[in-house]
Amino acid sequence: MKDLFGTALLDYQKGHYTEDIITSTSISDDDILPLPYLFRDYKDMPKLEKKALNLAKGTILDVGCGAGSHSLYLQKQGLKVKAIDISQGAIDVCALRGIKNTELKHLLDETDTFDTILLLMNGTGIFQELSQLSKYLIHLKSLLKPNGQILIDSSDIKYMYEDEDGGFWIDTNTNYYGELDYFLSYKDETEIPLKWLYLDFNTLKFASETVGLQCELVVEGDHFDYLARLS
Ligand SMILES: C[S@@+](CC[C@H](N)C(=O)[O-])C[C@H]1O[C@@H](n2cnc3c(N)ncnc32)[C@H](O)[C@@H]1O
Repeated sequence: MKDLFGTALLDYQKGHYTEDIITSTSISDDDILPLPYLFRDYKDMPKLEKKALNLAKGTILDVGCGAGSHSLYLQKQGLKVKAIDISQGAIDVCALRGIKNTELKHLLDETDTFDTILLLMNGTGIFQELSQLSKYLIHLKSLLKPNGQILIDSSDIKYMYEDEDGGFWIDTNTNYYGELDYFLSYKDETEIPLKWLYLDFNTLKFASETVGLQCELVVEGDHFDYLARLS
């Protein structure tokens, strides 16, 4: 990984903001990811994220924290938060923003236990592929203290396969429709493509129950997105 995402976050943090990140996927064209959005305040967060932050309690793990906006808010509320990410730039930014406990770490290498685990901004993306879902859910379950909870958001992206007359062009002979290749570029450099998983609620619920986690729908967003609570 070249860590262009982290480079962009660091540029913004250090006052060198000139360009946004450009993303695209295997089924969609270029889209702009505005850097200021990654530094959003509570008031600018989508309602799913606000709800997740309101439900967070006890000791908290923010997985894939990025610039640490959720961790920062919770820390300011007096909660104990640990923010992890695989991007060195992201972790440097978290430290610069004053997050006390932040670590360069892959989710699967985490071993502490928590009352609340947050995975936000399409949190299921980190699982990459449907075939890895059980492995990640079992690991997340092992990081929960008694009565702990996992708060995770995602979207059912079936709508992206809808054609003009309302039919769907999903090829049922290929992989799950929410498995996308994700491309990112920043300042004329292109990141190594990664896999990113969007998951419909029923698939998440079924997989969670299979590994012994209860899964409830907390709230739906405005555009096929949802927040789920696993416990
Ligand atoms: C879409 S960004 C979300 C950032 C942040 N949660 C937010 O809402 O602004 C996803 C983040 O997850 C991180 N990430 C991806 N895979 C990860 C893994 N296996 N373990 C920890 N972090 C990961 C990426 O480096 C990136 O910072």
